[in-house]
Amino acid sequence: MRFWIWGLNLVLILSILSQFSKIAAEEASPSQAPICSEEDRASLLRFKAGILQDTTETLSSWTGKDCCDGGWEGVQCNPSTGRVNVLQIQRPERDSDTFMKGTLSPSLGNLHFLEVLIISGMKHITGPIPPSLSNLTRLTQLVLEDNSLGGYIPPSLGRLSLLQTLSLSGNHLKGQIPPTLGSLRNLVQINLARNLLSGPIPLSFKPLRNMQYIDLSYNLLSGSIPDCIGEFKNLTYIDLSNNQLAGRIPLSLFSLVNLLDLSLSFNKLTGIIPDQFGSLKSLTTLQLSSNQLTGHVPLSISRLQNIWYLNVSRNGLSDPLPAIPPKGIPSLLSIDLSYNNLSLGSIPDWIRTKQLKDVHLAGCKLKGPLPHFNRPDSLNSIDLSDNYLVGGISNFFTNMSSLQMVKLSNNQLKFDISQMKAPEGLSSIDLHGNQLVGSLSTILNNRTTSSLEVIDVSNNFISGRIPEFIEGSSLKVLNLGCNQISGSLPVSISNLMELERLDISRNHISGSIPTGLGQLVKLQWLDISINGLTGQIPSSLSQISNLKHANFRANRLCGEIPQTRPFNIFPPVAYAHNSCLCGKPLQPCKGNLQKKKIGQ
Ligand SMILES: *[C@@H]1O[C@H](CO)[C@@H](O)[C@H](O)[C@H]1NC(C)=O
Ligand SMILES: *[C@@H]1O[C@H](CO)[C@@H](O)[C@H](O)[C@H]1NC(C)=O
Ligand SMILES: *[C@@H]1O[C@H](CO)[C@@H](O)[C@H](O)[C@H]1NC(C)=O
Ligand SMILES: *[C@@H]1O[C@H](CO)[C@@H](O)[C@H](O)[C@H]1NC(C)=O
Ligand SMILES: *[C@@H]1O[C@H](CO)[C@@H](O)[C@H](O)[C@H]1NC(C)=O
Ligand SMILES: *[C@@H]1O[C@H](CO)[C@@H](O)[C@H](O)[C@H]1NC(C)=O
Repeated sequence: MRFWIWGLNLVLILSILSQFSKIAAEEASPSQAPICSEEDRASLLRFKAGILQDTTETLSSWTGKDCCDGGWEGVQCNPSTGRVNVLQIQRPERDSDTFMKGTLSPSLGNLHFLEVLIISGMKHITGPIPPSLSNLTRLTQLVLEDNSLGGYIPPSLGRLSLLQTLSLSGNHLKGQIPPTLGSLRNLVQINLARNLLSGPIPLSFKPLRNMQYIDLSYNLLSGSIPDCIGEFKNLTYIDLSNNQLAGRIPLSLFSLVNLLDLSLSFNKLTGIIPDQFGSLKSLTTLQLSSNQLTGHVPLSISRLQNIWYLNVSRNGLSDPLPAIPPKGIPSLLSIDLSYNNLSLGSIPDWIRTKQLKDVHLAGCKLKGPLPHFNRPDSLNSIDLSDNYLVGGISNFFTNMSSLQMVKLSNNQLKFDISQMKAPEGLSSIDLHGNQLVGSLSTILNNRTTSSLEVIDVSNNFISGRIPEFIEGSSLKVLNLGCNQISGSLPVSISNLMELERLDISRNHISGSIPTGLGQLVKLQWLDISINGLTGQIPSSLSQISNLKHANFRANRLCGEIPQTRPFNIFPPVAYAHNSCLCGKPLQPCKGNLQKKKIGQ
């Protein structure tokens, strides 16, 4: 989903940029070089003084008398008045932990001629939004995204009557959304996402009739979705996901004929999905997952000509699914009906025969053998886990040349995994909790490990040894837990340089832990418990400083536990039931080692 949200951000950025190019064009033909007003220069320098660290080196260009001569990066002036009208500081392309550290000086409120104020992506600008910004009555764009601003949104921002774009997303702002923002009659885009805002969506928003874009996602907003949302006839984008909004989906919403994207997922919405959904004629994406919606998927969605993404997973929707005609929902590419109260039995034909990218029908009580999709070549991701699928895999993967992700976990599939032909280019496969037999030789061969990032085949009856690994693997997750795998952990495990999670617990693996395991410095989760491993825990493992969880329990390990963090502070149970491990968090080693060995 990320990419369409990116797309929208891009539209926002492009609209900002196009405004700039206009300004730049005006500036290209100056009759005489304007001299920056002394008041503006002083305000800018006070802002600069409030920024204690600047790895972007933007502010180091702010020297000299004329802040309008183009040398002050991010500063633009109106050529006829010499007043600063644009201040735009945006995160550079490259990544960094910090771009700027410091606070926003209230002096910004003295840049009275400012029309555009953008300070975004600086990561560590802390402190409050200065209430003095409410004196910038010429502002049309106020964008302070992705800093670390705290405190409350100043209610006085409601005085910025020309404001068209307000974005304060990605900060630590708390408290309520000030009802005064309802006075921003010219507002077209509001983005307060990813903060700690609480309380209701203000009813005072009612007059914001020009609104096209609302993103209040990832906050702690409560109450219901106000009915007035239906008054914003120009709305194309609504994201209220990841809040605590309750109540029903307001019927007024369905008069928004220009709406393209609607996300209300991860809230506490109740009631039904009204049949009026069919009137959202422009809708392209609909996300209602993780609410408490009941009733049926309305038949009227088949009238939505443009919808390509439909996600109603994790609700309480019940049977039957609407009888969608074969040509219904013509643009559909992704469908997720997982984890509702649906007993589908088999995959409906309108899903099975359509050219889709994502089919997610986990927990839909599917029965019988794996389905045959009519357009396997278009499929990107399939999730049929937590169903009652039986039998083999035979030609399920045939012609799935674009498949990236497949989840068939927690079914009753029974086949020899070494006979399975997974598509080339697959990056994630989850087959845990079935009845698979055979060895790992095919799924973990030289070719697959170079494209696969996630393999979970835990909780099956897989036997044989763990194959050798070659260099250049992209594996991040390798879960072989709870099978019947024997032999030793190959020394070449050290080639899995990208590995973050390794679970070989509950098998019959013997031999010692290879020293090279310590080279897997990205490892965060390591579980080798309940096997027959012998020897020491190699001290090289102390190089894995990111490790969050480790379990060595119930093997035949002996000797000193690496006495470095985090190994010496994992709970003792992580080392229990071995031959003679010692050192923190267990008993000290000195002397004891010998006694325990004799005692055996
Ligand atoms: C806005 O400007 C006026 C006049 O310059 C000043 O008195 C006032 O304190 C400013 N408001 C804020 C909130 O800084
Ligand atoms: C919506 O957009 C149209 C065309 O862009 C514009 O004329 C109109 O004023 C906007 N506002 C409302 C409330 O329709
Ligand atoms: C549907 O939404 C849920 C929750 O947001 C998400 O985990 C899942 O990946 C989505 N399904 C698809 C096909 O994108
Ligand atoms: C699940 O759906 C059935 C009908 O298909 C219904 O009788 C039952 O009450 C539903 N359960 C819940 C928890 O909604
Ligand atoms: C796979 O594709 C080929 C060529 O398009 C086709 O002939 C064949 O029938 C397909 N196989 C299956 C099982 O769909
Ligand atoms: C691939 O793996 C086999 C063992 O399974 C090994 O003999 C062979 O040399 C490997 N090929 C490459 C290119 O590493």
